[in-house]
Amino acid sequence: MTAALAELVTSSRIIICSGSGGVGKTTSAAVVAMEAAALGRRAVVVTIDPAKRLADALGLDGIGNTPKRIEGPWSGELWAVMLDTKSTFDDLVTTYSSEPEQAERILANRFYKNISGALSGTQEYMAMEKLFELHNSTDFDLVVVDTPPSRNALDFLDAPRRLTRFLDHRLYRVIMAPTRGVMKAVNVAAQAFVRQVSKVVGASVFEDAVTFFQAFDGMEAGFKERAEQVLELLTSPATSYVLVASPKRDTVAEARFFAEKLGEAHIPISALIVNRMHPHFTDEMPEALRERAVTFEGTDLGGLYRNLADFSLVAHREEGHLSGLAQMVEPAPVIRVPFLRSDVHDLTGLALVGDHLFGRA
Ligand SMILES: Nc1ncnc2c1ncn2[C@@H]1O[C@H](COP(=O)(O)OP(=O)(O)OP(=O)(O)O)[C@@H](O)[C@H]1O
Ligand SMILES: [Mg+2]
Repeated sequence: MTAALAELVTSSRIIICSGSGGVGKTTSAAVVAMEAAALGRRAVVVTIDPAKRLADALGLDGIGNTPKRIEGPWSGELWAVMLDTKSTFDDLVTTYSSEPEQAERILANRFYKNISGALSGTQEYMAMEKLFELHNSTDFDLVVVDTPPSRNALDFLDAPRRLTRFLDHRLYRVIMAPTRGVMKAVNVAAQAFVRQVSKVVGASVFEDAVTFFQAFDGMEAGFKERAEQVLELLTSPATSYVLVASPKRDTVAEARFFAEKLGEAHIPISALIVNRMHPHFTDEMPEALRERAVTFEGTDLGGLYRNLADFSLVAHREEGHLSGLAQMVEPAPVIRVPFLRSDVHDLTGLALVGDHLFGRA
């Protein structure tokens, strides 16, 4: 089981950790990258919104859109990047501008400033964009990505398309039509449309949008091509998907949905990490233990057996929730990580999770 995950860390170029909110994606991504560094690889983890204390431990406080090296007892290299959606978008604009003035105009535009952070799916897209950039740099052997918690399982796969769809938007085409010398009739219709929209969103907002789209003119092709490349990379065999879940009924249901969607997109899951499992002290059934508790009622042993029965019940329930999911991801290995006594907020904590993930515990 754990050998399969070690193999993945040794041979993958990209590992994407996904799953629903709060299950341990950020933790897992950091641990996987750390393991790769221990195996001598140059690994970088792209992390999104890590818990404050983990960010501190990784030295990611403050900025961090460019990789920062983390020193530690590994023969390889460990780097971390904290995704900054806006700066990544800005870099992209700069890359695809035909001249520096165009980039400046866009970056200073109020409409751009609003959408670059808030456009739905921007964070997912920029995470994938960052991945693409790091993958193409010769500085790293492995890029590990921690995906944003998203309700829609495939948001990050759909994100590149969503951005280009936005550029195909009717509003965009209508605004751009006059400057492209389309017939007068269209122009009149466009003006009416412009008036209408201005009434709703306010004239100055609308003017900002028009200026933005005009500044953007000529850049769509570059953006679309880039989005296609990102998508290709995400669906290529160089990319492995690790699904992270917890053994609770509702998160397992979310993980099943996730697995189903990846399956529909013909993307195989390489491993399933089940994080925060309760301890498995005994193979005995809870009912048998409960009977023993009754037998020893009134003695210390009675209380102990009752506790053991409770633990056994929790463990059985957790395995029950997981069995269907494990089947769904077959032949991917299922790796269980126990509920640790404390939060994972430093390199020692990460190393401890690593011991469980890679079979050293
Ligand atoms: N095995 C574990 N035992 C105890 N605590 C854990 C374990 N794994 C993770 N944690 C803690 O649980 C919290 C959530 O973990 P993490 O931030 O990795 O989840 P996430 O999936 O990235 O969350 P989000 O969806 O909010 O980004 C963190 O405080 C982390 O330290
Ligand atoms: Mg996270």
